[in-house]
Amino acid sequence: MGKDVIVACDFASAEQVFTFLDKFEGGRKPFVKIGMELFYAEGPSIVREIKKRGHKIFLDLKLHDIPNTVNKSMNVLSRLDVDMTNLHAAGTVRMMEAAIEGLTRPDGTRPMLIAVTQLTSTDQESMENDLLIKEPIDKVVMHYAANAKKAGLDGVVCSPLEAGKVHDTCGAGFVTVTPGVRFADGDIGDQKRVMTPAEAKKIGSDYIVVGRPITAAEDPVAAYNRCVAEFCD
Ligand code: C5P
Repeated sequence: MGKDVIVACDFASAEQVFTFLDKFEGGRKPFVKIGMELFYAEGPSIVREIKKRGHKIFLDLKLHDIPNTVNKSMNVLSRLDVDMTNLHAAGTVRMMEAAIEGLTRPDGTRPMLIAVTQLTSTDQESMENDLLIKEPIDKVVMHYAANAKKAGLDGVVCSPLEAGKVHDTCGAGFVTVTPGVRFADGDIGDQKRVMTPAEAKKIGSDYIVVGRPITAAEDPVAAYNRCVAEFCD
């Protein structure tokens, strides 16, 4: 599996995302992450159009529902021909197994399926007080990662700081997709625990998800190429 840089296209409209992607015409086409905001604004056609332009797509919709509903929804997403999608591991092993089944096409192929363990916006205090989960958060994250592996998923979304431990727990082949990446000389914005692309590579991340350091850069193509050079080459 090749390491790659996934660009978080956190734009509010198709027009904005196409203006951004136009800059990459003629060069390496970024693997693109489409999140809820863009998908809910523009619908499935945005996926088809970006796909038609030759980009790989990570559809970040974080499904979490009863197994039957997730199974049927994943089946729809597999027909959209995305390359990677995700769900919440909190939905249980049974829900994740149902997701895999729904995502698998008649020819046996399927997009990669990645689990969210605990969101990085959830801390120990909110996990204990709101969710009544009393275990240490890093133990919960690793347990959810192990559940995802048990259900047959390909990997997890995690902090680059957790990637090494996820590989130790679930094996080197279990994919880590890591946001929270910043250039050494860049703004960290609202991210708290960050790593450079080079550090993320060293620690064993398989895919880095990079948003504003590329989308808000003066020269997004140069920023993307810098990420690729630091992380992939
Ligand atoms: O702009 P920035 O590089 O911070 O964007 C990171 C992307 O990764 C955003 O789309 C954000 O929602 C996503 N993400 C994250 N932290 C997580 C999970 C997803 O930053 N734990």
